[in-house]
Amino acid sequence: MTKLIIDCDPGVDDAVALFLAFASRDLEILAVTTVGGNVGADLTARNARIIRQIAGREDVPVHAGAARPLFRPPVEADHFHGESGLGDLTVFEPAAPLAPGHAADVIIQTVMAQAAGGVTLAVTGPMTNVALAFIREPAIVGRLAQVVVMGGARTEGGNITASAEYNIYADPHAAQVVFASGCRCVVLGLDATHQVRATAERVAALRALATPAAQAAAEVIDFSNGIERDIVGGKSAPLHDPCVIAYILAPQLFTARPCKLEVETGSALTLGHTAVDFRLADPGAATIQWVTEVDADGVFDLLNQRLAGQ
Ligand code: BDR
Ligand code: CA
Repeated sequence: MTKLIIDCDPGVDDAVALFLAFASRDLEILAVTTVGGNVGADLTARNARIIRQIAGREDVPVHAGAARPLFRPPVEADHFHGESGLGDLTVFEPAAPLAPGHAADVIIQTVMAQAAGGVTLAVTGPMTNVALAFIREPAIVGRLAQVVVMGGARTEGGNITASAEYNIYADPHAAQVVFASGCRCVVLGLDATHQVRATAERVAALRALATPAAQAAAEVIDFSNGIERDIVGGKSAPLHDPCVIAYILAPQLFTARPCKLEVETGSALTLGHTAVDFRLADPGAATIQWVTEVDADGVFDLLNQRLAGQ
């Protein structure tokens, strides 16, 4: 049983990540925390509760967090996620409210309340909440089992600017705080997530599962595929954030290399670029692992297998 906190900014692919996590009974989800990102903080907090309700997991508390990045102005990505943040999914006011407490405080309290090494942190949005928590209570850095992050790009270039991936660009200073903290961290950048494409066959297999979570997941992935076609000029959208949960459930589907990782925070042109360096004097001492290869069929099999039950 893996004890998990999920910090996210739903977001269509965050929604699929949440569905995968909620459907996985080998995860004990201690909290879902939300941050402003793809859409505003009020919407990400509502969207997480909508997903929770569709998944029938009101037992998991959702706490709202930072509405703004540490320094830079907010950058939203509603052109990729729709005005609501959930594509064409019908949105509604969720029955269950937010739980009290700011996301950063909840991350601190939850990690401190569990045994050292007892909690994994999954991060699928800008890292503002996580950086705030690390700054406010540095003791949690060494107590986390691992932090598994969707963010950055090395060989793929950027998806929000020529050289930056969205989550890092949206709060580069927060990302730098997290990567420089010394926490054990696994990073799934675009090099990894661009290997995991929602082809028509894969979406059809998901849609064939008649569960509410699978239907909603297929609907938001369809929306992403439309955006991929109309804005990006591709065919099948990458499934970024679900890779984080898939890594936690089945790390054998992924290949990672130890690295040094720094975030560009000083240049307007390349703000949020992730400088990933594999040339290490002592690879065994590295705290950061950069994912290079993904078994995409394995990720979709896992998603279908888990969502079949919900
Ligand atoms: C990341 O940016 C967001 O728009 C997605 O939800 C994902 O977390 C991909 O670059
Ligand atoms: Ca996200």
